[in-house]
Amino acid sequence: MIKAVRGTRDLLPPDTALWNFVEATARDVFRAYNFQEIRTPIFEATELFARGVGEETDIVSKEMYTWWDAGQHPAIDLERSWREQYERNFDKLEIGERREPSLPIDFVAFKGDEVFLIELKYRGGAQVRQAIRQLISARNAWLHANPTSTKLRLILGTTVPQVEIAKSDVPPYIELQAVELPPDYDPPQSLTLRPENTAGVVRAYIQHKLWDRGLNKVYYIGPQFRRERPQKGRYRQFYQIGAEVIGPASAGSESPARDAEVLEMLATLLDRLGISDWNLELNSVGTPADRAQFNEALRKALEPVVGQMCDDCQRRAVTNPLRVFDCKVAEDQPIIERLPRITQFLSEDSRKHFADVQAILTMVGVPFSLNDRLVRGLDYYTRTAFEFTHGALGAQNAILGGGRYDGLSEALGGPAAPGIGFAIGEDRLVMSLQEKTPAESVLRKPDVYVAPMSGMDGEAARLARELRRHDLLIELGDASFRLKKSFEAATKVGAKYILIVGENEVQADAFALKNLATGEQVSVARGELAQKIQRG
Ligand code: HAM
Repeated sequence: MIKAVRGTRDLLPPDTALWNFVEATARDVFRAYNFQEIRTPIFEATELFARGVGEETDIVSKEMYTWWDAGQHPAIDLERSWREQYERNFDKLEIGERREPSLPIDFVAFKGDEVFLIELKYRGGAQVRQAIRQLISARNAWLHANPTSTKLRLILGTTVPQVEIAKSDVPPYIELQAVELPPDYDPPQSLTLRPENTAGVVRAYIQHKLWDRGLNKVYYIGPQFRRERPQKGRYRQFYQIGAEVIGPASAGSESPARDAEVLEMLATLLDRLGISDWNLELNSVGTPADRAQFNEALRKALEPVVGQMCDDCQRRAVTNPLRVFDCKVAEDQPIIERLPRITQFLSEDSRKHFADVQAILTMVGVPFSLNDRLVRGLDYYTRTAFEFTHGALGAQNAILGGGRYDGLSEALGGPAAPGIGFAIGEDRLVMSLQEKTPAESVLRKPDVYVAPMSGMDGEAARLARELRRHDLLIELGDASFRLKKSFEAATKVGAKYILIVGENEVQADAFALKNLATGEQVSVARGELAQKIQRG
């Protein structure tokens, strides 16, 4: 038997009714705050997450589903397409790094006494320059290693017309030839199933120049993927309901009013869903400038103790000391407890921003507690950071998390665009709802089971179609069922009424309608059926 992959699961009815209820409620609440839906692709260029979320985070360094698309290795895939297109031009073609590991080029090709160094990546604009530089240094290295080489030509594959290649970048003693690749050339690239959605939203913001719209308030609902160790409340495919506010500072994206509004919206949503015992934990992780000082202090504080910590922490202490706070190893916790906290390093501006957020939250009556250990597991956060926890969830008790990411757009090559957002773990949200609100309680049962007698399938379908137009929920049986079996089926699906469609009924244009709970049975004319059922 083929089973769902470890860490993934099927969501089955009736449980899906609870998921629908949560999503419908979220959409309602988001609408009231004037958020609109955005849908970004489920996979993106790996580089987006490496640069956005951060190489040193657990998510990027350990948990991503990444693959080369297509082929197993970029050079192998390139080789295939290159061979198909150009092989006849050469006597021999070899993958560059295989032949000369020190040469960072795609191919070495031979024809007579000529040697060609070939760089065949999909390139446009500024990348062409970089490619030329790489080719030139490869040529120099080649000549150094093969001093008897006579002719050595460089070939650059590009979709940019030859004229655009900056000739000034190529020394006169080098012959550079550009091979134009078809514009629809599909370059092999590293792709990743999205482990989160904020980077995708900010990429879309940059790609579509959404700053023209001022402040963007968007939400998303969908699957995310992380290769974590599965346990209760932790899956490899999980679902997030998230929202982001992003735009130029002139549109008010930096205002503490936005932070407070997002938090108040979350409190409203949780309350509306009937989740009462949540706890909002709040911190400020400062600006990059604040953090530079903090990192310094952390490095110093870690120096004498890091030797006693886990391997991950030893690495983090060097590369990104803030990530030490993500450590879950029990033995490391007493050490981490004694480390300096970011709150001690906040600038005056950051402090005021954080105080303003808190003041508004207090005014609107959203309770919170401060947690200066909360740094969040993603590198893009600045200033306000938060999590909502829920007691019933056990170890994986963070029902949602979020914060500001004022520098993310710039880190991804976009303009300055401060932003704030959150993502709810929908799996965990549904789990904490399940106790109080069983799926059955939000599931709408059929109003009517339409039971056709022998030969009456067509008439029954016609009647069902009429009733459904009145927004009634109809389960349509079939004429092969005897009456007793139809009654059993109607009871099993939880229908309120059973409607018998027999020859006599059709002739009279009035049908036997039986209330399955009370046993009351009446004959109702076709034209009055919908009304009678709706009145109950
Ligand atoms: P995050 O804290 O990594 O933040 O994830 C948000 C929520 O997703 C968590 O609080 C948790 O409920 C849920 N979650 C995470 N991993 C899993 C898993 N393996 N299984 C089940 N649930 C999980 C982010 O993703 C940020 N993009 C949030 C954000 C939006 N920050 C600013 N804007």
